[in-house]
Amino acid sequence: MPTDRYCVFGNPVAHSKSPRIHALFAAQTGQGISYEALLAPLDGFDAAVRDFIAANGRGANVTVPFKEEAFRLATQLTPRAQAAGAVNTLVFDQGGITGDNTDGAGLVRDLKHNLGCDPAGRRILLLGAGGASRGAILPLLLENPASLVIANRTEEKAARLALEFARLPGCAMEVKPEGIGFGQLAGRQFDLIINATSAGLSDAVLPVPTFSFAPHCVAYEMLYGRETPFMAQARAAGARVADGLGMLVEQAAEAFFVWRGVRPRTAPVLAALASES
Ligand code: ATR
Repeated sequence: MPTDRYCVFGNPVAHSKSPRIHALFAAQTGQGISYEALLAPLDGFDAAVRDFIAANGRGANVTVPFKEEAFRLATQLTPRAQAAGAVNTLVFDQGGITGDNTDGAGLVRDLKHNLGCDPAGRRILLLGAGGASRGAILPLLLENPASLVIANRTEEKAARLALEFARLPGCAMEVKPEGIGFGQLAGRQFDLIINATSAGLSDAVLPVPTFSFAPHCVAYEMLYGRETPFMAQARAAGARVADGLGMLVEQAAEAFFVWRGVRPRTAPVLAALASES
């Protein structure tokens, strides 16, 4: 059977778990694909993609720091990529280069299916107003939460982001997001708190009041592979804590589905990764 080529572009990329995840998906579903990690030069993302297409590449994932460049490179965008302003999944075919974004769908799927935490009806706090946060907003709003507050160190960025999504054309959502600074969290409680900041990478502590973690709160850290100060803080406040490994596997499964039309089962892959780390 001929092998269809896929890859993940990043810089750095050697640490990526995506080749392992997609190898497990391929084995499980019997799909004849190969999937490799490709280091693109910081100033050579477009050329790396075009070389890969010329070498019969059928699709690619895109990770840090190329998601915005991939957004610009795509000749067409899915609505969720358009809303996210970033692309993590590319499809190469006769129609050109399609840019998609499966990160938000991966987050929602991890919450609902793996963690039993349906965003519907919950008061949600999203920490951060960068790319990771932006990609999560529309998928969360579409789940009909009771409310969605975006809190950021730089208040103005949160306010701008919230306004942008409140005005999203063609979206008749009941809930309009609200953007605030961390200082305005005092006295407010949430049932689901998602950390989409990069603070954990430098072990920085976020000024989230203990009171903000409502009873039975779920605290979700988008990073994985380390216990961040946010996770420790949430645990101390009595919250149920999850890291972003499930989101990683679910966004990969969604990309696999986009490419192959087959949805792999994620539970065995998550279990395999957890036992390997
Ligand atoms: P990403 O694509 O991972 O979201 P980004 O666009 O650089 O990366 O955004 C990083 C986010 O983490 C921002 O919301 C940033 O807050 P600012 O907008 O105020 O810069 C947040 N962040 C990073 N380090 C932080 C820290 N030590 N404390 C609080 N927020 C932090």
